[in-house]
Amino acid sequence: MIGKNIKTFEELDSTNNFVKLNVSNLESGAVIVAKKQTKGRGLRDNKWDSNLGNLYFSFIIKDNVFRSNLFTYIVQSSVAIIRTLKQFGINADIKYPNDCLVESKKITGILIESSGTSALNYIVVGIGININQIDFGDLNDKATSMKKILNDDFNVNVVLNEFVKNYNNILESNNQKVFEEYIKASIVIGKRISYKNEQYVISDIEQNGTIIINNDLDEKRVAFSEISLEELYWHD
Ligand code: BTN
Repeated sequence: MIGKNIKTFEELDSTNNFVKLNVSNLESGAVIVAKKQTKGRGLRDNKWDSNLGNLYFSFIIKDNVFRSNLFTYIVQSSVAIIRTLKQFGINADIKYPNDCLVESKKITGILIESSGTSALNYIVVGIGININQIDFGDLNDKATSMKKILNDDFNVNVVLNEFVKNYNNILESNNQKVFEEYIKASIVIGKRISYKNEQYVISDIEQNGTIIINNDLDEKRVAFSEISLEELYWHD
């Protein structure tokens, strides 16, 4: 389970960085929260704007973590986010592998980092949930928040507690059922993508994260571990 220990800091550079620097002092399942981050990180070396008012947290998993299961952590985290938002009345979609969107605008991001080769020493799951931010500057047409959608302020800790409960429930549930929930919320099947400069349509996602992509000439199975996000472009 996660969240037996939750430690909140006024400010950190990045909750993922903090966890990685303190691996040996943190027990599996520990959650680190920062009210703001000075160097919040996103996928593809993007920065993750992290002013006061949103939720920024990371948790560490040390037991039985295998590279071959990385996609499972993404599925579990994404479904926990979807369920949490739903409790506040928000229906979010999942964009493979790990973005949650509302009306095509991003509301949460997940950054998973790991250490080790096949049997991993640990993984860090870092999650940002846009809660009370209403101005995203240049990203206003790409990002949204709970407040933007519902016109109300939310307590960041309440959202975190709901996430922790949902995640722990998911850990106790049947993996297949949770994966079905992920697929049900996924909006990518049938969508066009470019992969290694060729155009394809996604026809399926398998439980280990492999995606099946087709075009007139070819069908490819691309393993999650082979997908470099730089090579995968979505066409809206
Ligand atoms: C993405 O690009 O979609 C992933 C964003 C992940 C942001 C979270 S906020 C908490 C944790 N700490 C970080 O520096 N990044 C993650």
